[in-house]
Amino acid sequence: MKAETATLIEGLNGLKAETAIVLGSGLGGLVDRIENPIRISYGDLEGFPSGGVSGHAGEVVAGTISGVPIVMLSGRVHYYEHGKADAMRLPIEVLAAIGVKKLVLTNSAGSLRDNLPPGSVMLITDHINWSGMNPLIGEPTDKRFVGMTNAYSSSMMDNIRQVANEQNVTLGEGIYMWFSGPSFETPAEIKMAKLLGADAVGMSTVPEVILARFAGLEVAAFSVVTNFGAGMTGGELSHTETKEMAPKGGALLGRLLASCIGENKL
Ligand code: HPA
Repeated sequence: MKAETATLIEGLNGLKAETAIVLGSGLGGLVDRIENPIRISYGDLEGFPSGGVSGHAGEVVAGTISGVPIVMLSGRVHYYEHGKADAMRLPIEVLAAIGVKKLVLTNSAGSLRDNLPPGSVMLITDHINWSGMNPLIGEPTDKRFVGMTNAYSSSMMDNIRQVANEQNVTLGEGIYMWFSGPSFETPAEIKMAKLLGADAVGMSTVPEVILARFAGLEVAAFSVVTNFGAGMTGGELSHTETKEMAPKGGALLGRLLASCIGENKL
C-alpha cells in the first residue's frame, strides 16, 4: 500500500464519516461546499482507478458540511473505459473499511420522459442492468449472490424526499437503465428502454450499486438529466452536451445534498 493510502485511511478513520458520495460528471462543484477539506488524488492511492473521462477530477475529498463529516469520491471509472465492471470495487471497499455505512451515487443521464427535461434531477428508485455485465463475476465466495430487492434504501429515499420537500427542490423519481456505452443509444434502443419501464438511461452507477450492496452499504442514487434520449428530439447526442448541461441540474442536486448532509438526513 502506498504511504498516501495508509494516511488516507488513518485520517478518515478519525473523521468518522457515515456517508460517502460519488460525484459524476459535472457534479464536482459539490466538493467546494466541504469545510476544511483533505484532498488526495486517485493517482496517489494504490488500487484506485487512474484515468477517466474529461470532466472527472479523480480525487478523494473529505471534511465536513455544516459540521457533519462527509467523504466524496470526485470522479469514477466507467465500465466502457477498460471493460472492467469492478473498476470501483477497491474505492468502495475502502469506504466500508473506514466505517462508511451509506453511499450516495450520482450520474448524468438521458431522460425518457417529457416531464423530466434536461436540468432536472431524478431520484433513482430501482434499476435495470441492460449491459449483461456484473462487477461480481469472478468473486469466488457465496457472498456474490447479493440480493437486489432493496438495492435502493427506502429510509434514505424517505429522508431525501422530506428534505427536497422542505427545500422546494423538484425531485423526479424513476428507474435507471444501464447501457455499457461509450456510444450513445440508438432511437430504437431508447424506444425499447421505455417499453421495458426505464425512465432514464446512462453508462454508470449500476455496477457501483451492486458493489456497495456487496460491501454491506446502504445506497441512494440520483441522475442529473442532461438530454432527452436518442431520437426524442431529432438532434445528435454528444459528450460535450452532457458536460455543458450537467452543471445545471448538478447545482440543484448539490443544494439538495448539502441540505441533506447538514440536517444529518443522509
Ligand atoms: N445516454 C447514456 N448516457 C448518458 C446520456 C444518454 O443519453 N446522457 C448522459 N449520459
